[in-house]
Amino acid sequence: MNKYLVIGNPIEHSLSPLIHNYWIKKNNIKAIYDKKKLSGDDLKDIIIKIRDKNINGVNVTVPFKKEIIPYLDKLTLDAEATQSVNTILLTTGGKIVGHNTDIGGFENAIKDTGYNLSGKKILILGSGGVTASIIFALYNMKVSSITLTNRTKTKAEYLQNFFNSIAAKKNGWNEIKVVEWGEMPEFDMIINTTSVGLNNDDNLNLDFSKIGKNKFFYDVIYNPKETNFLRQGKDLGNKTENGKKMFIFQAAEAFKIWHNIQPEINEEVNNLLD
Ligand code: ATR
Repeated sequence: MNKYLVIGNPIEHSLSPLIHNYWIKKNNIKAIYDKKKLSGDDLKDIIIKIRDKNINGVNVTVPFKKEIIPYLDKLTLDAEATQSVNTILLTTGGKIVGHNTDIGGFENAIKDTGYNLSGKKILILGSGGVTASIIFALYNMKVSSITLTNRTKTKAEYLQNFFNSIAAKKNGWNEIKVVEWGEMPEFDMIINTTSVGLNNDDNLNLDFSKIGKNKFFYDVIYNPKETNFLRQGKDLGNKTENGKKMFIFQAAEAFKIWHNIQPEINEEVNNLLD
């Protein structure tokens, strides 16, 4: 029986086992997908288990998406460009490869909403683990500008420097701007990548009263379904979307990498996560 794992800390709330085991069963695959809470010291052991084929594939979540990188043999271009790995595969050639399926997850989720990002001005709240993947996906979808704002400004500036480096610029991407936390520059779409909202009463305490009309409020968080951020956006008459589809699409891409099967995303899958 092949074994797959999601590793992180905390991990109790992870819905990855639910969705992967659903697809495993649907496709009659002999495998089991489990979750494991780890500390940073355990990463090395997990890699040994993959090399020994005791574990066949691993999803990586907060806070190890970057920390895992030194233990891997190879990164895909996307994982390299974002310094973020959420899916690990042992190739038939025996190499442990780190993939990033958060990028495709976000891209597919936005396409699924029918919103055309081309030429749009984007404001991103937060500069944590998933932010680099979102930036990469936004550039792929040809946005016109990206502004970052984070409570700890230096973390936003780190990402700004990272993406404004020579390597990123050669693709013709516009430079990322950084503004102070609490500032509200003009935008078409605002994306919450902070962890604020995971608890129902969390509030970003930002002033959206002067943002104008017809904006798109996107939250990476999908549990709770409607964060205060999304509720505020909706109450002001804007389009809103939570991170559920992004989660489903990133899982589907990981599933394809491991099993070489494109899993079906149907109503049942959608309802699994409610
Ligand atoms: P990490 O920072 O370890 O990558 P994360 O969960 O991926 O963790 O990211 C947390 C994000 O939520 C960060 O952008 C964080 O801001 P700081 O860099 O200032 O810590 C943001 N965040 C968490 N709590 C916040 C709060 N109360 N107000 C504003 N931003 C908050």
